[in-house]
Amino acid sequence: MIFLLALTTTLSDGKPADRSEAIYSSYCVNCHGESVEKIPLKPETTSEQRAEIVKNGISTMPPYGWMLFDGEAEKLIKFMEQK
Ligand code: HEC
Repeated sequence: MIFLLALTTTLSDGKPADRSEAIYSSYCVNCHGESVEKIPLKPETTSEQRAEIVKNGISTMPPYGWMLFDGEAEKLIKFMEQK
């Protein structure tokens, strides 16, 4: 799966594609649910705090910072916030 995701980062303009949907459906959907309904975002956390949680993990959620490019945690949060 990691190899598949790596392929999706190559676009003709050389900029990384937005992998949020692919990452979410591979790594996050099982716990958080298709519409982030199983473990929802908390109203009291800011987007910045949420991005830190994605990078560093929290309670039973593992850290994902190691597999994300710069800015991807923030994109994932935007993706989740729109669900
Ligand atoms: C093993 C299950 C599991 C997986 C996989 C998982 N999470 Fe979580 N996530 C949790 C748990 C548990 C919490 C903490 C809930 C709490 O604090 O009560 C959490 C919290 C969060 C929060 C903080 C929400 C808030 O507003 O405080 C974000 C953001 C988040 N996860 C995003 C993600 C993303 C993005 C992925 C995939 C890259 C992911 N999670 C994968 C279980 C998981």
